[in-house]
Amino acid sequence: MKPLLTLAALTLAVSMQAQKVGRMDELQPQQKADALHLTLCGKLTIQGNSDFRQLRDLCWQLQTLDLSEADCQRVPDNALHSRARLQEVVLPRGVRSIGSQAFFACRSLRSLVLPRALEEVGTMAFAQCEGLEELTIEGAPRLGEFALSGLGSLRRLRVLSAVPPQACASTFEGVDRRCVKLEVPEGSEELYRRAEGWSRFYAEPANPNLVCRPAEVLVPAPASLQLTEGAPLSLRRRWTVEADPALDNEREQAQLLVNTRLALLQPTSRSPKGIIRLALNPALDDDEAYRLEVGADGIRLEGRTPAGVFYALMTLDQLLRADGSSACCEFMPRLMIDDAPRTHIRELMVDPCRTFIPFEQLKAFVPEMARYKLNALHLHLVDDQAWRIEVKAYPQLTAQASSRVGMDDMLRPDSGFYTQEQMRELVAYAARYHVQVVPEIEMPGHEVAAIHVFPQLTCHAKRVPLRTTCGVSDELLCPASEFTYEFLGNVFRELADVFPSPYVHLGGDEAGNPALDCWTSCPACQGLKQRLGITTTDRSENWKLQEYLFNRVIDTLRTKHGKTPMFWYETDFKRIPKGCVTFAWRHGLTRAAIDAAVANEARIMLCPGEHCYLDYPMAPGDMPEVNWGMPVTSLKQTYELDPAWGMDETFERQNLFGVAGTLWSECINSPERIYYQAYPRALALSEVGWSPARVRSWTDFCRRLKPTVRDMQRRGISCSLAW
Ligand code: ACM
Ligand code: ZN
Repeated sequence: MKPLLTLAALTLAVSMQAQKVGRMDELQPQQKADALHLTLCGKLTIQGNSDFRQLRDLCWQLQTLDLSEADCQRVPDNALHSRARLQEVVLPRGVRSIGSQAFFACRSLRSLVLPRALEEVGTMAFAQCEGLEELTIEGAPRLGEFALSGLGSLRRLRVLSAVPPQACASTFEGVDRRCVKLEVPEGSEELYRRAEGWSRFYAEPANPNLVCRPAEVLVPAPASLQLTEGAPLSLRRRWTVEADPALDNEREQAQLLVNTRLALLQPTSRSPKGIIRLALNPALDDDEAYRLEVGADGIRLEGRTPAGVFYALMTLDQLLRADGSSACCEFMPRLMIDDAPRTHIRELMVDPCRTFIPFEQLKAFVPEMARYKLNALHLHLVDDQAWRIEVKAYPQLTAQASSRVGMDDMLRPDSGFYTQEQMRELVAYAARYHVQVVPEIEMPGHEVAAIHVFPQLTCHAKRVPLRTTCGVSDELLCPASEFTYEFLGNVFRELADVFPSPYVHLGGDEAGNPALDCWTSCPACQGLKQRLGITTTDRSENWKLQEYLFNRVIDTLRTKHGKTPMFWYETDFKRIPKGCVTFAWRHGLTRAAIDAAVANEARIMLCPGEHCYLDYPMAPGDMPEVNWGMPVTSLKQTYELDPAWGMDETFERQNLFGVAGTLWSECINSPERIYYQAYPRALALSEVGWSPARVRSWTDFCRRLKPTVRDMQRRGISCSLAW
């Protein structure tokens, strides 16, 4: 039987969970991590490691937050973004403005009062607070775009102001008026009935009769778009989808598009028929090329392969949403689009190691990528902080190395791994969206999780805990130990089949840069150097040992599994094995990586930090406000990436593999925040990778971005607005 808690211990336990303090700095790290109920009554800060950043990122269990007495006029952007456990918030009595996405997806919030002093509620401030049942608005704040959208549980909305607060047509998007009781002061109903945004509580919002303007909506921009003669096609029709038998998957995707967009126009039995015809066309000159034609009474989509037809559908999807203010426009001009990609791999990399991404959320990331013709999902499955993939030969890996407490200052338990069955499901699901899944098993560095379980993988069989901070560890796989090769061989034997992609990423970064000593004092490594005739002592010997290890692993991958290895480029790693793919990632070193790729007849993926590290803040002060010293990667910087890096056509044809954006997750602590970091920069990246240079323009992109982001917001997806 457990001993009873003493009164003192009980008081302590309760006090650790329910605290009243002036500011966050008065609490110890563990108190923040344990806090369930907090009252802050001091002057709150909003920049850098502010009170709000600490509430959001450090108080991961927080259920109730009382700020009523706090001195705080502004709740900053993203203040409590995606804090799913938060059930109750009392806002500062004197608060004047609430920033964009401040309470985005606080799904457990039940009721809320917007205080009288409030003047401004930002874009998507309370969007996707799906559990919110009661909302009271005491004053008359301006309510921003999508500020109160996606409130699926809302039942009672009380507004005390006789004059309707200024709202946008999108403010209450997705709120079902048949379920919500709107209470307004007596005598002011008529004003509310006529006011923008509020009118939807009295009648279904009228369809705005939108006409699509194709040149203003597509991301990535197509290679060729021509408007053709004839009256615009009215889309209120009884649509049917016809498709070649080889296009069953695309037929389903087209039907989805009919159901989620075109059906909203509510055709009647008297509406004319419309046909969406999907066909293969072998005359098109690229496997991903497509042609889309809007004619007098239907839409024809052709591709050389099913992938091309799928991309035609994704283009149609964007045309239908027009300016994003409704899910479907009414009229589409006649047009012809001929399109094909500039590069064939357009990738996003996610990192479930530093922060685990639950399986369903990982899956959900795929269709959003596909909308913008991104076609590779790179899974960083192994690192110093966790091992996230089931290996049947070594169940200890996930049993002992997929769970840890904390990451840097965030003392939040993080655990989880993917079974092979789940990964097979992901691969099949992604294939329906023409997205391939590329696994990464890091070596010889960033391998602490495996070494934690099998110390004999590293020199001196050193025992190490899982890493709980970001950075680089000194422990590397020992290239002189046969167990290293046996282990990697067994891992790849299982995974080669789970991930049918022809590519496997082997990592290779930061195992000696900064310089590490792991191999220097190891007798086995010294013996191996002698056998290999490595005599240098200027640390180039480390890279030669790495080359030996890589060559053995690459040989196994090629000969046994038919896979093409990939790795992160490091300048000191001189030879890139022919046919492999190297990733140019380090700030300022892209040209060196390109020269190495060309000299070694290798292919190169462009993901230079200054353009493609989407885990970095998009503007100063944007999330993640507290990080390890990340530079800013602005939307414009991402857009301005030249995928050919000024090289000639030969380089582009022979060496350029594609473009990739990274989403390392040291500072991304919820699935919703992966989208926030990825978008809108992933849209810029998709255009970099897809569109020919002659159709790209930054100002034009910014214009086309608006309907795209609006459509994301309407669908409840978070993205950074710091542009
Ligand atoms: C990397 O960012 N360490 C490849
Ligand atoms: Zn060694």
